[in-house]
Amino acid sequence: MALQQLRIDSVRNLRRVRLDRLQRVNVFYGANGSGKTSLLESIHLLGMARSFRGNSVKSLISHDATTCTVYGAASLPSSPALLSLGVQRNRGGEAQIRLAGQPVKTVAELAEQLPLQVITAESFSLLTGPPGGRRQYLDWGVFHVEHTFFSQWQRFQRCIKQRNMLLRRGKIDDHELAFWTRDLAAAGTAITAHRKAYFERLTPRFIETMSQLAPSLPALELRFRQGWDAGLNYTEALDQGLATDVEQGYTHTGPQRADIRVTSGGHSAADTLSRGQQKLVVCGLKLAQGLLMSELGKGDCTYLIDDLPSELDQEHSETVCGFLAAMGAQVFITCVEREELLSVWPEAKSEALAMFHVEHGEVSPV
Ligand SMILES: Nc1ncnc2c1ncn2[C@@H]1O[C@H](COP(=O)(O)OP(=O)(O)O)[C@@H](O)[C@H]1O
Ligand SMILES: [Mg+2]
Repeated sequence: MALQQLRIDSVRNLRRVRLDRLQRVNVFYGANGSGKTSLLESIHLLGMARSFRGNSVKSLISHDATTCTVYGAASLPSSPALLSLGVQRNRGGEAQIRLAGQPVKTVAELAEQLPLQVITAESFSLLTGPPGGRRQYLDWGVFHVEHTFFSQWQRFQRCIKQRNMLLRRGKIDDHELAFWTRDLAAAGTAITAHRKAYFERLTPRFIETMSQLAPSLPALELRFRQGWDAGLNYTEALDQGLATDVEQGYTHTGPQRADIRVTSGGHSAADTLSRGQQKLVVCGLKLAQGLLMSELGKGDCTYLIDDLPSELDQEHSETVCGFLAAMGAQVFITCVEREELLSVWPEAKSEALAMFHVEHGEVSPV
């Protein structure tokens, strides 16, 4: 699906923005503080009902407004009609989400329609930051290709919360603990099976993507860590860890500990690669997910890329842009000077490119 129209009201300094002719590739250029990142945030709000910058909704709403609203109309490959999406948030944190004019209750329904991949200066911490970010990355992919995953994931969260509450209690009822342990084992086993299956499909796409983005990097490898001893099933792992769980008052083993390890030449990529190389690896991870989704017929994802030319050198910006241009995904990309982007975007693909100038919160097509 591709966004054709976008209406933004009161997102940061974007008081009223109307864009009616979006293309497959949309470039937003303008001075610092003009509103470029806010524009990408608005699209993120439309797909995820929240920003990718910080957690506070309040900071997202224009200072003198009480709500912010983003509306989009998107074309679908299967139908001539446009699908409308709308998200409104108020200062109390409440969200109103509408799909095709109908209110929907969960962000998952929205996210399913508009799968987003974000590449910003911060997203580069995917490699070097804590494992939670990498689990989120992995689960994003599983969610978009395996629709039963989300309910199982929710079930797992519920079970672990209950079990941990019980473990924290001074006096533990053995029967109750056994009940939640059994349920947790089932849910944890199910989500791990999905994660593994997805990971196995993702890995070759990542390796292939990286061979184009950075052919000279020492051999890259991805490894999945399920969160407990690989020689045991989850029931056995919970059983073996029971005494420690009771002693420490929480469940210390399981899918909540899963991680992905990236190595280059046998060494941890987070510890040995240069910052520039790490950025490429993160781009590779995000592009590989988009490739896999399209290949599996699950639709294209939309890429939101903040200031790529300042994140990567000329040569690598060219490679990443070449990859995006060949991919067919819709792209929203920002930069300070339009030439910065034009000089790295493949010339043969520049006719699908729409340029917008951003100035003091106003966005005008060029
Ligand atoms: N809640 C808000 N209300 C109004 N303006 C805001 C709000 N939050 C941030 N801004 C302003 O919005 C402007 C645009 O920010 P940003 O989108 O990050 O700019 P850019 O990415 O173009 O450098 C900044 O000048 C910032 O001060
Ligand atoms: Mg910015």
